[in-house]
Amino acid sequence: MKRSSQPIGIFDSGIGGLTVTREIAKRLPQESIVYLGDTLRCPYGPRPLQEIRTFARQIASWLYEQDVKLIVIACNSATAAGLEVVQQESPVPVIGVIEPGARAAVQATISRRVGVIGTVATIESDVYNRAIRSLDAGITTFSTATPRFVEMVEQGLRLDRNPIEDIQAQASRVYIRPAFQEIARDYLNPLKRCNIDTLVLGCTHYPLLAPLISQVVGSDVRIISSAEETARDVAEMLERRGQLASEGHEPVYRFATTSRDLDDYARLGSVILGRPVIDPAYVSLEELEETLVDFEQKRMAS
Ligand code: DGL
Repeated sequence: MKRSSQPIGIFDSGIGGLTVTREIAKRLPQESIVYLGDTLRCPYGPRPLQEIRTFARQIASWLYEQDVKLIVIACNSATAAGLEVVQQESPVPVIGVIEPGARAAVQATISRRVGVIGTVATIESDVYNRAIRSLDAGITTFSTATPRFVEMVEQGLRLDRNPIEDIQAQASRVYIRPAFQEIARDYLNPLKRCNIDTLVLGCTHYPLLAPLISQVVGSDVRIISSAEETARDVAEMLERRGQLASEGHEPVYRFATTSRDLDDYARLGSVILGRPVIDPAYVSLEELEETLVDFEQKRMAS
């Protein structure tokens, strides 16, 4: 069994998974973390599931090499496409973000009418609908792909702070342009008309837009982000396996990205994580591809 001082491995198509990492770090401050953002290939959302599945397997293989004790797929699109196969192959436990979000939504809804927004890959995979209805078949889900929210976050993070951001919420670290509000209304008004009382943010970028989304759907709609629930699952899994880092363990955070723009990654990542992303490492796509090939060869040989 893996030692408790080993890191937790987390990955996403880019920086959105740092919203989940933030919650994990908050809940488990003694744990070391290795985070990889596949920024060069972001967004995953518009890609075919098969391709995203391969990316997920490559990055998971790379994380095994980092000697992680558990993997969190902090990306809804990668969870939808690859959780099952990565779990089947992995020597360590693997947690995705969809089941925790679905569970939180089922617990939150009273009218049993739940909205789900996410990338095209996530919504078309229908995994949220299935996950929610496997917990409560009486719930009706209403799903909409809202891909432009990803670019709004990416753009918004690159723009300077402004008063709208300050008014909308302290939690929002994204500049909300007036045009963004219009896009949000176009996406969300049809869901609002379905009388949902709960809305799942089925993309790890979206919590950064939570104040805007909440403003459009109204304060009576519960907004569910899977970050906190996922962090809880990670804590429970490690506890059950006796693998929590010991009290007082000095955590080490390591960051990596497939993008060559390490400064941009560090700067935006720090904004989302709420702590400095120091010295991110560059990992080439060739390295990721080779790691998967090596992993497959070792599996075949064993
Ligand atoms: N982080 C991704 C997710 O949760 C969204 C960004 C992308 O499309 O890659 O689905």
